[in-house]
Amino acid sequence: MTRMISILNGPNLNLLGKRQPQIYGAETLADVEWNCRAVLAEGFDLTLRQSNHEGQIIDWIHEARETACGIVINPGAFTHTSIAILDALNAFEGPVIEVHISNVHKRESFRHHSYVSLRAEGVIVGLGIEGYEAGVRRICSLVTKAG
Ligand code: DQA
Repeated sequence: MTRMISILNGPNLNLLGKRQPQIYGAETLADVEWNCRAVLAEGFDLTLRQSNHEGQIIDWIHEARETACGIVINPGAFTHTSIAILDALNAFEGPVIEVHISNVHKRESFRHHSYVSLRAEGVIVGLGIEGYEAGVRRICSLVTKAG
């Protein structure tokens, strides 16, 4: 049986590649998906989705309870504000890896706190879009180890 990894992206990440490329780089979410597919372990597949709406992201996390073995999430600015996304992730049983393209700790102090980190098995910051690949690898290895 194929195990699905859900990669979720929050607000403004649809503009990846166009928005502040000096911070977020020139690659797009399509590049992220392509690169992540290349590192999938045998027997795993993934979906990558993005929404500017908090409720949509919460609905996708609920859906993942039935369909996904793990979640890689870049909640964008909701990272720093959303107890509701934290609560939804707490209702998901598999591993969660939080990814930030930029090094949030080098930026404004309001980006230093993450609600999602209270739930995440791992947090990857500042590796550019390679952080998503690291997240996918980690989910594959945690899920494989858990059997
Ligand atoms: C981000 C960092 C957040 O602070 C910001 O609001 C984003 C992107 C990142 O990937 O570096 O939208 O999550």
